[in-house]
Amino acid sequence: ITRAITLRTILDSRGRKTVEAEVRTEHGFGRAAAPGGASTGIYEAAVRDPALAISEAENQVIPHLIGIDSSDQIGVDALLHEIDGTDNFSKIGANLTVSLSLAMAKAAADSRNIPLWQHLGGIFVDYAPRPLGNVIGGGAHASHATEFQEFLVVPTGCESVRDGIFANAQVHATVHDLLKKRGIHAGKGDEGAWAPPISDPDAFGILTEAISLVSDETGFEISPGIDVAASQMYDPESGMYRYRDGTTRSPEEQVTYIADLIDEYDLVYVEDPLHEEDYTGFAALNRETGNRCLICGDDLFVTNTKRIQEGISHGSANCVLIKPNQIGTLTDTCEAIHLAQRHGLETVMSHRSGETEDTTIAHLGCAFQCIFIKTGVVGGERTAKLNELMRIEESIYERK
Ligand code: PGA
Ligand code: ZN
Repeated sequence: ITRAITLRTILDSRGRKTVEAEVRTEHGFGRAAAPGGASTGIYEAAVRDPALAISEAENQVIPHLIGIDSSDQIGVDALLHEIDGTDNFSKIGANLTVSLSLAMAKAAADSRNIPLWQHLGGIFVDYAPRPLGNVIGGGAHASHATEFQEFLVVPTGCESVRDGIFANAQVHATVHDLLKKRGIHAGKGDEGAWAPPISDPDAFGILTEAISLVSDETGFEISPGIDVAASQMYDPESGMYRYRDGTTRSPEEQVTYIADLIDEYDLVYVEDPLHEEDYTGFAALNRETGNRCLICGDDLFVTNTKRIQEGISHGSANCVLIKPNQIGTLTDTCEAIHLAQRHGLETVMSHRSGETEDTTIAHLGCAFQCIFIKTGVVGGERTAKLNELMRIEESIYERK
């Protein structure tokens, strides 16, 4: 039974304000914070000004939640929808609801004296998602850097997540060495990836070389991927993708371009290769390359079951990115995952570019048996999740 709820603003990794919620029950305590995006999809649930959302919630939301059963997650989340009354949380804000919803789940887990992954996943969880992280980036996350938002690595051959996490970090460091060797200076983008002023083909070259050096050393396969975040380069007026080097590509040319990159660099993961409305363009690429590469929708699906259903009927993707704050509650997040998994699509649990030290997504990725967890490679707000994932993996092994 929920006894007290505290809301406050805290800092996110970009130094902006975000919402943190704390829930106290008779025997438990849970805390969670909302992350924030930079290349947000237009169909995401609404984010409100944190201070305003909190001051209104203190009168209009919190009183309804006191006294309810924190273990009734579906009831709690339904109540949040009912109080809000809109279909995208535009009244009370999805940044408020996601922090409340996740804090409630953590309080319920704590009352049972078990970790969140176990509370939600049950006794048959036996796998921790492989870490997918960006080592070079640009787009909306850094200026004067690559066109594509993220050049990613995933340790596809690692036996344990622990080995994979350290391998990714080694790729990140090796990329820096290779940049220095070429005399290229680079700062870092919002998620800790190197943000050098180089072309995408050069980034692919460096990524490939770094991966091969590190996988020789670790002895297991490490694979490349990308997040194009193509909505950011799509111009709806002309219907063309505009690259900053002056190149423009029609949707058909974009499909061919990405399919060629998948072949040339053996990409195992491509996120948002086309803009967020283009179910059929996604489907064309998925038909051509879906047998050898995960074609993943982020802005296309925004963790929304209606949009995922639409994608399934078009055959748009074989993978769904899962961001709890895109949809606003844990129940909605779980429904999105189950819908995807029932139809044979993979799921990837994901951070946002603006993060906190909150580690909840590490637990969700394990509980829901996602294939990957996308949460960067370095930087405290990213390593918080990765370090938690290593701890969870230990307890999964201990239990076996
Ligand atoms: P965002 O982007 O968190 O800045 O929206 C991350 C992504 O596109 O995956
Ligand atoms: Zn994305």
